[in-house]
Amino acid sequence: MLEALFRPQSVAVVGASQDRSKIGNIILRNIIASGYQGKLYPINPRAGEIEGLKAFPAVSALGRGAVDLAVVAVPAPFVLDVARDCGEAGVKALVVISAGFKETGKEGLEREKELVAICRQYGMRLLGPNCVGVMDTHTPLNASFAAGFPHKGEIAFISQSGAMLVAILDWSMREGIGFSQFVSMGNKADLDETDLIEAAANDPHTKVILCYLEDIKEGQRFLEVAERVTREKPVVVLKSGVSEAGAKAASSHTGALAGSNIAYDAAFRQAGVIRVQSMRELFDLAVVFARQPIPRGRRVAVVTNAGGPGIVTADSVERQGLEMARFSRETAEELRSQLPREASVFNPVDVLGDARVDRFQVAIEKVLADENVDGVLVLLCPTAVSDPEGVARVMAELHARFSHKPMLGVFMGGESMAGGVEILNLAGIPCFTFPELAVGALAGLVHYGSIKARPPKEEVPVYPDVRPEEVRRILERARQERRRSLLSSEAAAVASAYGIPVAPIQLAQRAAEAVAIAAEYGYPVVLKVASPDILHKTDIGGVRMGLETPEEIRRAFWDIMESAAQHFPRANLYGVEVQKMYPKGVELIVGMTRDLQFGPLIAFGLGGIYVNLLKDVAFRLTWGLGPREAEAMIRETKAYDLLRGFRGEKPCDLKAVVEVVGRVARLVTDFPEIVELDINPVFAYPEGVVAVDVKITIG
Ligand code: COA
Repeated sequence: MLEALFRPQSVAVVGASQDRSKIGNIILRNIIASGYQGKLYPINPRAGEIEGLKAFPAVSALGRGAVDLAVVAVPAPFVLDVARDCGEAGVKALVVISAGFKETGKEGLEREKELVAICRQYGMRLLGPNCVGVMDTHTPLNASFAAGFPHKGEIAFISQSGAMLVAILDWSMREGIGFSQFVSMGNKADLDETDLIEAAANDPHTKVILCYLEDIKEGQRFLEVAERVTREKPVVVLKSGVSEAGAKAASSHTGALAGSNIAYDAAFRQAGVIRVQSMRELFDLAVVFARQPIPRGRRVAVVTNAGGPGIVTADSVERQGLEMARFSRETAEELRSQLPREASVFNPVDVLGDARVDRFQVAIEKVLADENVDGVLVLLCPTAVSDPEGVARVMAELHARFSHKPMLGVFMGGESMAGGVEILNLAGIPCFTFPELAVGALAGLVHYGSIKARPPKEEVPVYPDVRPEEVRRILERARQERRRSLLSSEAAAVASAYGIPVAPIQLAQRAAEAVAIAAEYGYPVVLKVASPDILHKTDIGGVRMGLETPEEIRRAFWDIMESAAQHFPRANLYGVEVQKMYPKGVELIVGMTRDLQFGPLIAFGLGGIYVNLLKDVAFRLTWGLGPREAEAMIRETKAYDLLRGFRGEKPCDLKAVVEVVGRVARLVTDFPEIVELDINPVFAYPEGVVAVDVKITIG
């Protein structure tokens, strides 16, 4: 896939110029300098010769099928004509470097649409416009105007920002980090992150895929592709623009808690994508993924020549979700017999400040050989006798012998460590100056291990007993009355039609009706004001609980009506809703809000009136949300501790809670017009659950 972009047989540079300061010329020279072996054609209206190559006035002048990839660097107003010419000439892929498209406003947007239309018409794929270009170090091809070409390597880097790309490139050259592919996506008019992740996944030279993203173009397709790819190769994403969470006005708890950043988090998690928060982390992970094996578990051994940093490392291991390994008896005994008496033979293994290479050799070898160890961190502090280069050589030799267990170095220091660091680098052992970063990188490897080993994607249950016709009728009525929110009784009926157990509730227009409904349900009951215009019922005395007699109901009915009329004289008052009162259970919230990019986002957590204060909520997209994932979401919350039976209380019916989540997911999938939904609270009991208050907003 995308052969023409990464491994073209022939390339044309449209806008190549004899002027060495122009971008078209720089691209041409970059392609030549990268050692590209295919045919290369400069395209320039004045033809002649450019950089020693014969130039042609247009791609079509070369004849049909002569060019696989055209890199376009002419001013934006000429790009459409060039694209048509390329299309006629059978070009397979275009890289449009030129700016002056969507990023510049309306006229540019029109031009971009036209460009995409031309590409579709001729079946050409398009990278950009407004991009730096594309590189593949194994082809080799540098079809970009970046200053430099990365070392050959196994990391693919896909960037939505051209500036970020060139900065990283420059930095990587000094660090000696190699890349397989380097792609600047520009405006993503056609090819986007999903296409490029897929291409990198299919590239035999790529071991790890890095992305810098500002947004994702097609959420659903991204999820499908990323879910597949991450089973084979790690995908690590730095997504910028995280601060807008909660910026939109929302009428539900769920809506107020969730923002697009949370939807991105859920999307990445569900697709197995690792999200990082900084450039530093992005590249630390890239390097360990490219150079170290995935460990079998999370048990870490630390070998150090200094006590303090050893303890700091152990703390960091625990904090970052890893475990300090417990050595076997044989390991401890061998260490005991071969290290000085003062050395610590427990984890961290302290070989002491006067350790020379031999002690490191013994310690590292023994812990690597121990079955209870999944990965090793070697800490070295500069002392008068320490020999960084010697230790590095020992590490390199042992890493070659125990290549299935990751090993990272932490050489704490500067100048004196440089030689050792260099040796580690050559041996493919990432080395850090401080322990936390090394532990973070190891934690990333472990995390990916669990992503790679996750069970196959779940089937989403269909719940054949749901009754969509009933829901359709209720939504239709609300629409006809131009209401955006459903009455509680309507919302409860909707939930009930989808098999969610709800506390029965009915509308009563008169007090006598309310009494009759209560007689049907049995006492006690709750009365709630019924009006689409009154959202926060409790605040205006619109809710009365624990009513035990007809007399109490009649009095409550009139009190509520009067209070509502007083507070909201213009509200449309439907009457009151009578609800059967249920004993308190564990109070949960199950909610939904829609994300523009990824669709319905489900929230689960501790319910009740303090939802927004406690914020004990986990989120998942309905995409691929089966019972296993729903349970994983539930387990992330403190509510789960309550469900399990806190302080000797009976455990609640977890299966029923999982089913509420699943049925809500099905409901909001079937009815896209439901824009927000809150069930708060849902009471969970040792047997069963009941939804006490359902709020539904329609769009
Ligand atoms: N076919 C072939 N060559 C053409 C042509 C066509 N249809 N139309 C013009 N050219 C030639 C020009 O004659 C010129 O060659 P010359 O020096 O021999 O005269 C060459 O293409 C370049 O055109 P020029 O008008 O000199 O433009 P430029 O080089 O100053 O700028 C861009 C062109 C594309 C670099 C510029 O318009 C641009 O978009 N810059 C921003 C790029 C950017 O930042 N991208 C995003 C990075 S994140």
